[in-house]
Amino acid sequence: MPQLFDSFTLKSITLRNRIGVSPMCQYSSQDGHASDWHLVHLGSRAIGGAGLVMMEATAVTPEGRITPGDNGIYLDSHIPKLIQITKFIKEHGAVPAIQLAHAGRKAAREIPWASKGSLSSVVAKCKDEWTIVAPSALAFDEGFQVPHALTEMEITEIVLAFKMAAKRALDSGFEFLEIHSAHGYLIHSFLSPISNYRNDRYGGSFENRSRFLLEIIEAIALVWPTHLPVAVRLSCTDWITEGWTLSDSVYLALELKKLGVDLLDCSSGSIAPHIKIPVTKHYQVPLSEEIRNKTGIATAAVGLITDAFEANEIIFTGKADLVFLARELLRNPYWPIQAAQKLNPPQQKPIPVQYLRGF
Ligand SMILES: Cc1cc2nc3c(=O)[nH]c(=O)nc-3n(C[C@H](O)[C@H](O)[C@H](O)COP(=O)(O)O)c2cc1C
Repeated sequence: MPQLFDSFTLKSITLRNRIGVSPMCQYSSQDGHASDWHLVHLGSRAIGGAGLVMMEATAVTPEGRITPGDNGIYLDSHIPKLIQITKFIKEHGAVPAIQLAHAGRKAAREIPWASKGSLSSVVAKCKDEWTIVAPSALAFDEGFQVPHALTEMEITEIVLAFKMAAKRALDSGFEFLEIHSAHGYLIHSFLSPISNYRNDRYGGSFENRSRFLLEIIEAIALVWPTHLPVAVRLSCTDWITEGWTLSDSVYLALELKKLGVDLLDCSSGSIAPHIKIPVTKHYQVPLSEEIRNKTGIATAAVGLITDAFEANEIIFTGKADLVFLARELLRNPYWPIQAAQKLNPPQQKPIPVQYLRGF
């Protein structure tokens, strides 16, 4: 059985180990342009030994940003900085990945620390000018705008925006693409009956609610080369029986596999604020295990994975092909190197030559 430090090949890409940096918004972009912060933040995690370094939810349209500080990939002028970032990640042995996203009815929010700094006026300005969109005109929660319900023509425009973004991602040097279809953002809000009340071909049946995501996958296949992997992050369950369920995810995984999707990144929840998520250690690992075992598609497990031995166990017991870590890698970018020291695998440890004297 594979172990945490065995390599992992998807199409023409080989990761040096099974550890991925989970996408994490940094709210440090200007008009969608990535900054030196991203170069250092993502670059440090490549130096720290991760196999896959995924850039945060990156908006395919300006209205699809969660906040005015979100990263974007809707202009050609976003590309040069991204090239610098992907080049650095590759030079340090990791595969650069990007998560393409549209925030839907959860867009136009404040940068989490805006009230503490000088960004409040920018946020206020953006809120006035920012129309948010969704499958149906239902606000996410109190205090959120009521979104504009997308017309079929507008849905097609967003599908096209994902395609253009995938092309820009390729031109920027990314080698792994993830579509963000989780956490209550636009694509998830089409999938879930909790947020989709449409009665046209994008609402109602499972097939209709899945149509938007499947159209996006088909559109990006026109520009993203067949030798590079595509992943989808799903909220595998809404944690409520009336919502999107794990069996829906299993069925969708089979459809995505048919369309050439290589990996499901198994997250959960966040479609509506009132639903309680049973957050405990490894709580989403069983979602990954079920999808992997029932469909044969590769999966990533994520959520409160912090211990090297436990991460290794998730891999060698076949619960996932990859583990993605988020907050633990904020605390410690060198987690992969330290995990290699603990597990002492037969493979070369991912220590940069510049740092060898420290070990
Ligand atoms: C600061 C921060 C930003 C995040 N941004 C994103 C994001 O851009 N896209 C996404 O799919 N999930 C995002 N997440 C969720 C993480 O990717 C991850 O799924 C979650 O934190 C659970 O993993 P953990 O327990 O290892 O932190 C974010 C989490 C944090 C802490």
